[in-house]
Amino acid sequence: MPIILAIESSCDETSASICRDGNILSNIIATQKVHEQYGGVVPELASRAHIQNIIPVVTESLKTANCELQTVDCIAFTQSPGLIGSLLVGAQFAKSLALSLDKPLVAVHHMQAHVLANRIADKKPSFPFLCLTVSGGHTQIVLCESPTAMKVIGETIDDAAGEAFDKTAKLLGLPYPGGPLIDKYAVNGDANRFNFPEPQIADLNFSFSGVKTSILYFLQNAGKSNLYKEEFLAPEAERKKFIEENIEDICASVQQRIISILLNKLKKASIQTGIKDICLAGGVSANSGLRKAFYEMGEKYKWNCFIPAFEYCTDNAAMIAITGYYKYLAGDFSSLDVTASARAEW
Ligand code: KG4
Ligand code: ZN
Repeated sequence: MPIILAIESSCDETSASICRDGNILSNIIATQKVHEQYGGVVPELASRAHIQNIIPVVTESLKTANCELQTVDCIAFTQSPGLIGSLLVGAQFAKSLALSLDKPLVAVHHMQAHVLANRIADKKPSFPFLCLTVSGGHTQIVLCESPTAMKVIGETIDDAAGEAFDKTAKLLGLPYPGGPLIDKYAVNGDANRFNFPEPQIADLNFSFSGVKTSILYFLQNAGKSNLYKEEFLAPEAERKKFIEENIEDICASVQQRIISILLNKLKKASIQTGIKDICLAGGVSANSGLRKAFYEMGEKYKWNCFIPAFEYCTDNAAMIAITGYYKYLAGDFSSLDVTASARAEW
């Protein structure tokens, strides 16, 4: 019955989790509010906030799990990818704990952990399964053969899906992170009102830069009346008014296009591999439109569909704990000279 203490600090969430024999007993997440005013994550501020948060978060995770630090069998931490300053805080903390407790250390790949978040619930996908991982920094289709054997079979060649949501939100004047707000406005909007192009990208790869550019051009000209037809761009006041009056339809139309790009490739991946246990993961899998369309597609193509519980979709340490648990069982430990890395191969 191994007890894993896991730490996640790859971006702007400081999180710690306790997992006993594959069951999550706690998952404490401190979300850094400091970035909101800057419209994006400021790396230096993120590192500082992790330093402030990490001890209270770990202490709270032990308390919630009713667990003594001395009973922990293994320390797992996010080694990569992410913001290097943020990762280093978690890595150094995990290594110090492992050293002082004389317990093994497990280094976890953040994107693999997003995939394995699907194995936390009672109803789990069977191996091999496919996972569409959609977050602020990544868009990937992963073929997961076992907890320790995964292959990226499709990924974005430019922006991530979350970035497409966040950048659209920024163009609409919404605060960061804009993804959840687009979701909120889209609920009451007409998704067929505006048409944004679907890119033609080979294989199982994705592209969102064309959609982003078409949204930018659309908004630059939004509300342009005949009065101003000689001007290149619509005047600011007209644009603002148009956005205000049409925000629900704009959000619904953009969201529908992002979803169709994602799900058409997922459908192709399932047909190519013959795999029907299919999962979503990552922050964007919290999107209500994506979840609904995913289940609808699953019903049509007879998939077994899985989405992690909401708290395991966005960045969290429980997914690091479950991955750490599998690596512990496989004896896949790291030495104390392991270090964090901003980018990482699979
Ligand atoms: O996985 P995550 O928490 O962090 C990364 O590893 O990047 O994903 C964050 C991303 C952000 O881009 C955020 O806007 C997006 O997930 N997101 C959403 C929703 N909730 C979070 N995007 C669309 N709809 C949502 N409901
Ligand atoms: Zn993430």
